[in-house]
Amino acid sequence: MLERTLAIIKPDAFRKNHLGAILARYEHEGFRICAGKIKFLSLREAEGFYHVHRERPFFASLTQFMISGPVMTLVLEKKNAITDHRTLMGATDPAKAEPNSLRKLYGASIEENAIHGSDSPETARFEIAYFFPASEIF
Ligand code: CMP
Repeated sequence: MLERTLAIIKPDAFRKNHLGAILARYEHEGFRICAGKIKFLSLREAEGFYHVHRERPFFASLTQFMISGPVMTLVLEKKNAITDHRTLMGATDPAKAEPNSLRKLYGASIEENAIHGSDSPETARFEIAYFFPASEIF
């Protein structure tokens, strides 16, 4: 069954001009890009998006990083999109990510790790609706 996941190309990857390479990789790996926008998140939006991490010691730093420049938010669709996207991203810490994974190729640290991806169907529903009304998903 087709599934959708939310991806965010984070400010570090955006600043380093990796958008095109990452989008091409998604298409190459069989994801259909069914929504996308470039956005400058407000602090409120970043905090709301990462609300599950609000008690973590890295929360303030993570949200400041996420508003340090534009991001690209995307809805990706394929069979097993959530799991397959997490595999394609690689481990949260780029130093531990698998060779050729997006975080290994484009991430610099556990915080500046280039990409975010939804981690479960419930999270994907919340995260997709957070950025995209149904009318903007094709
Ligand atoms: P992401 O997949 O966007 O989900 C939460 C983010 O928090 C994660 O990627 C990392 O960028 C960040 N994160 C997780 N653990 C740490 C940590 N120990 N220190 C700093 N940032 C972290």
